[in-house]
Amino acid sequence: MLRSVVVDDNGNLRLLTVEPHHVPGGVSSAGPLGVRRLQVYPDCMLSQTTGTPVRLPAPLGAAELALSLRPFGESRMLPRSAYVDRDVFEWEQANFFEGGWMCLGRSSLVGNPGDQRAEAAGRGSIFLMRGLDGVARAFANACRHRGHELLPCGADTVNREIVLCPYHAWSYRLDGRLRRAPSFGGDATFDPDELGLVELPCVEWHGLLFVDASATGGPFADHVAGLDEVVAPYELERLVTKGRHDYEVASNWKVLAENYQECYHCPSIHPELCAASPPTSGANHQHPGSGAWVAGWMDIRDEYATMSLDGRTSGTPLRGLDERRRRIVDYIGLFPNVLISLHPDYVMTHVLTPLDVDRTRIVCEWHFAPEDVARPDFDPSFAVDFWDVTNRQDWLACESVQRGMSSPHAIPGPLSEQEDGLYQWVSMLAGAYLGRPARTPAMEVPAGAQQA
Ligand code: FES
Ligand SMILES: [Fe+2]
Repeated sequence: MLRSVVVDDNGNLRLLTVEPHHVPGGVSSAGPLGVRRLQVYPDCMLSQTTGTPVRLPAPLGAAELALSLRPFGESRMLPRSAYVDRDVFEWEQANFFEGGWMCLGRSSLVGNPGDQRAEAAGRGSIFLMRGLDGVARAFANACRHRGHELLPCGADTVNREIVLCPYHAWSYRLDGRLRRAPSFGGDATFDPDELGLVELPCVEWHGLLFVDASATGGPFADHVAGLDEVVAPYELERLVTKGRHDYEVASNWKVLAENYQECYHCPSIHPELCAASPPTSGANHQHPGSGAWVAGWMDIRDEYATMSLDGRTSGTPLRGLDERRRRIVDYIGLFPNVLISLHPDYVMTHVLTPLDVDRTRIVCEWHFAPEDVARPDFDPSFAVDFWDVTNRQDWLACESVQRGMSSPHAIPGPLSEQEDGLYQWVSMLAGAYLGRPARTPAMEVPAGAQQA
């Protein structure tokens, strides 16, 4: 990708992006011909050495963050203010959810040419649409006339041949170019080619849509480096969504993501999960320094076909999975907001949207093989019911953590040896708070753990 950085009259950084990303395992929006992307970075400064935008550090104490970055076994959780301080939340919205790659959900949000919808990203929203060429693209959800939203955030997908602003009826083509602006045209200063929608980097990766609302996230391939080989065998892009729950949880988004990274809590609150999967089984994937993800797998007990309440499945093993993958669940946390759980016969995704410092929306979906879904006796409840029970157990624990952390006497605690995945996640976040790219840290592999 070719980029150049300029400083505008207001002192904001602007980044001009000319070429599309190349994404192994994914499809990138190429950008309409002749339309270039221009983004603004009020929260960044220029690196003295590379001349590229770098984040300003979060409003958190460097000494406290240093504790989270200490070696595994000596480190502490993130500072309490990371969970309760609205300034930190605002910084995260600007830098994590608008300042790099984040997941908006399944590609099927805009599955067909002409499909359009708007989804939340940080403090604003992203307008998604699929062009006649089949490519999903993302734009700022703001009309180029006076800024009206093109669609309300979170509303149902619409399918139209054009994009129509509801305020003064400006219309755009499905590649973002301005099509018509009623009563404009006689003015020599009015150039329709300069009034296309502001396009943002967008990638479709294994059936999930990712957007970098600022283009500061770097190549998407770096964001998911090493992850393709873990996810690809499950062919998530061909699976059919047959279950969805929307939850709203009174907890900071990080408490939820952290809870996902460890099963130290499983014997205490998840009897159903422990019946299906030994909580101390498995190990983490080790990929130090590459990719913004943390993952680990756990075994499924011999007497269980999959993760379900009675051990039975209504599905069949996903095609192409080897013997090992037919007996494990791989749990992946991809920074900042998507959790991907790879089962032998289905995939579950959680997409987290922070609503406030202590409130998070979670869309949990279950995806199955089309050949299973096509069978008249197929019933997805074996998976949906199991995880709905488990999800709710987790949400109760996370809400209690949030209440506990609201005490001014709450102090960041140490991590057990069963919380090595959590350590990786927390230290990745601590580094990102200091302005570094989110990358999984190097760490010693616990004794007896296998390398993936
Ligand atoms: S704001 Fe969209 S047409 Fe006026
Ligand atoms: Fe849990």
